[in-house]
Amino acid sequence: MSELGSFKTIEWINGRVRWINTLKLPHNEEYVETTDYERVARAIESMEIRGAPAIGVAAAFAVALAAYNSDIKDLDSLRGYLVRVIERLSRTRPTAVNLFWALDRMKRVVLNKEVSSTDELVKAVVNEALSIYEEDVKVNKLIGRYGADLIDDGDTVLTHCNAGALATAAYGTALGVIRAAWYSGKKIKVIATETRPVLQGARLTVWELMKEGIPVTLITDNMVGYVMSKGLVNKVVVGADRILLSGHVINKIGTYTIAVLANRHNVPFYVAAPTSTIDTERSINEVVIEERDPNEVRYVMGKVLITVPNVPVINPAFDITPPELVTAIITEKGVAKPPYMRSLPRILRGEK
Ligand code: MRU
Repeated sequence: MSELGSFKTIEWINGRVRWINTLKLPHNEEYVETTDYERVARAIESMEIRGAPAIGVAAAFAVALAAYNSDIKDLDSLRGYLVRVIERLSRTRPTAVNLFWALDRMKRVVLNKEVSSTDELVKAVVNEALSIYEEDVKVNKLIGRYGADLIDDGDTVLTHCNAGALATAAYGTALGVIRAAWYSGKKIKVIATETRPVLQGARLTVWELMKEGIPVTLITDNMVGYVMSKGLVNKVVVGADRILLSGHVINKIGTYTIAVLANRHNVPFYVAAPTSTIDTERSINEVVIEERDPNEVRYVMGKVLITVPNVPVINPAFDITPPELVTAIITEKGVAKPPYMRSLPRILRGEK
């Protein structure tokens, strides 16, 4: 098995986009292929494709699909059409900053690339999407390399949700750190939380790690305090959907609870994410936390009703972990330590 795994989360194949439908995992390894950007938009909304970097790559590929498969022959009309496609894609999910980061990159090419024909514009748009994809793989491997230094031989690492190959172009961020430590020869073990209500930990993290032979044990979300109190966890590594310059980390619902418990039990709490996840503009009050369909909570995976129908439900998809609970933020440009107000801008400038 190669370090990049035996499956492709998402790929561009000559004017088509193909992805693994993560809603069908772990029971079925099913792939979807389309030439229709709207189908990709719906895959992001329904979470067939999910995880901050994967959403960014998918959105970029969707813009490339719209360009590649359009028969518009007038340059200004093509630019106008692609801007409308970008607007549609920006309404798929509100929290992960990578979506907007990738769409901004695509928009810059659509509007500013100096070209003399629609064919040239299409080529530039497709190339930009492919660069976003390829950069993500490289960036994740660098995050892994920096993060592996923080993991000791024999550690048990707890992770939440899925910040793995299934959440990125390949390799993963939090699971990238775990992979890099494992492949460097450290005998580590992983504890994966199931991650109610969409079960990304139970369905995806467990599937990815077991496929690769990395030892993983599954717990329910409410067991974190118990396993930490028993000394069964040495480190926590999670991903992020958005990191503010203040060091606030927005990630899968339940992350904050784990950070509080890690603090209580003196367990280092690491966040692994590309610098494209750092939001340099917004403050905490400006971040939109996605509220999803209440039926995700009332039913297990849309099938088994586990409560009284129509009980009021809240279903925020993400929560906010304050900087004082975050031991370090691992990026492709280095490891940021508190105070983040100082270290994150330094990391963004490429200074160690
Ligand atoms: O709702 P999801 O499954 O898209 O949420 C995913 C997460 O919260 C991940 O931890 C985050 O996007 C980082 S993925 C490398």
